[in-house]
Amino acid sequence: MDIEKVVNLAKRRGFIFPSSEIYGGLSGFYDYGPLGTILKRKITKSWYEFFVKPEEKIFEIETSQIMHKKVWEASGHLKDFIDPLTQCKKCHSNYRADDLIQEKTGLLVEGLKPEELTKIIHEKKINCPRCSGELSDVKIFNLMLATDIGPVSGDTAYLRPETAQGIFTNFKNIISSMRATLPFGVVQHGKSYRNEISPRQWIMRLREFNQIEIEMFFNPKKENDVPNFKEFAKTKIKILKQNGNPIDISAENAVKEKIIPNNFMAYFLAKEFLWYQQLGIPIEALRFRHMGKHETPHYSKGNFDLEIKFDFGWKEVVGNAYRTDFDLTTHQKYSGETFAMVDDDEKVVPHVVEPSFGMPRTVYAILLYAYREGTDRGWEWLQIPPKLAPISFGVFPLVNKDKIPEEAKKIYKTLKSNYEVLFDDSGSIGKRYARADETGVPFCITIDYDSLKKKTVTIRDRDSTKQILVKTKDLEKILQKLFSGELKFEKAGKLVK
Ligand code: GAP
Repeated sequence: MDIEKVVNLAKRRGFIFPSSEIYGGLSGFYDYGPLGTILKRKITKSWYEFFVKPEEKIFEIETSQIMHKKVWEASGHLKDFIDPLTQCKKCHSNYRADDLIQEKTGLLVEGLKPEELTKIIHEKKINCPRCSGELSDVKIFNLMLATDIGPVSGDTAYLRPETAQGIFTNFKNIISSMRATLPFGVVQHGKSYRNEISPRQWIMRLREFNQIEIEMFFNPKKENDVPNFKEFAKTKIKILKQNGNPIDISAENAVKEKIIPNNFMAYFLAKEFLWYQQLGIPIEALRFRHMGKHETPHYSKGNFDLEIKFDFGWKEVVGNAYRTDFDLTTHQKYSGETFAMVDDDEKVVPHVVEPSFGMPRTVYAILLYAYREGTDRGWEWLQIPPKLAPISFGVFPLVNKDKIPEEAKKIYKTLKSNYEVLFDDSGSIGKRYARADETGVPFCITIDYDSLKKKTVTIRDRDSTKQILVKTKDLEKILQKLFSGELKFEKAGKLVK
């Protein structure tokens, strides 16, 4: 797959634009265009319906993106949120050393010490990919983005590198205001910022990106008492074990065999595996990787990354961490607050399992797997699942005369109250289908002379390009059923030959 084709289509059709493009762009920053913004909103809605709505006790919050320096001292980010940096001595280009080594040698070296990485660079004779210059010794680089606040310089605060900390610092406010009892979850969707050494691969590694995080708090003595676990216990997931062996195993058995630490973690892994399939990612392109100890974040007792197979290889899209009581305990220590809760007549500092979803990588995966070259139909198109397609329906008057546009506008307005609808009256019908296909519009409705005489319209199916004739009065009901998958296209009306 040539990802450039996806990137070009995404720009041309208003999904993703480079940020500050008229001034040459800014590395690590991208903007969502009109269709990208709707896609993001629909992904978030789908996520909310699948992960939040079914839970009894889960609260959504929205906290500041810039937070007190002490937050990051306590969380360990100022000390430990680091990546290894090497710089070209000739052209001064910067590289993340572990990525560069992996690219050049195929070795997985994430988490190795700077001296070990420097040694590999020398031994494998790795030079600057841009100018072949010699590379410097590897140094540690902190990824936190700092900013001065207020008129006095030196009053430093930090842009959050994860949305999670706003949840931990508000822990007491949440439990008292919501009268929360264990287990319960808190979710947050918003921007995170990381001063990445070398942003790259389109929207894969950015300096500003959206995360959706869930912190699920529970009593560690009841780590397997998950309210809705039964529903997903038998869901089969694929795990790449720490020893590199892949297994297909049910969520419940993965806990029984001590591969996954508890049912809370297993519950989320099962749901993620199902949800990404709903987004159009094939099951063969999904797996969880049990991260090795050296690559596990400083706050975690065990990480399972949901990885997706991209054009360039497997990459983490959701980080699943067993953060235990690490964050609440350190914030207790640094702030003097107490975060213990009473559960079963005992005081307990809750443990936390955290699924952390990355929005840009999710968007990348959706577009990658939706992209079709369309050699058969003569244009590229996107097979985005109907529920996520930014525009649900296209409405096209066949000609711009004889009251046909008025009839088309009537249908457009009716559909628009519940869906995103495109009205297109320019160019040939073929051109309009092509434009709609390129943006992934699942169904297009054409209004013609029969619409006035016989009160019928044609619906065209994006995936098969087939067309059916339906009664105008039944249109909305039929579209609803097509949209939800309740009705097969060929069965929904009279096939047009
Ligand atoms: N609170 C835990 C946490 O932030 P993470 O594994 O560092 O965990 C979670 O990040 C997800 O956020 C990743 O799986 C990825 O999808 C996304 N992410 C992280 N850094 C990113 C970056 N620089 N650009 C785009 N997405 C990123």
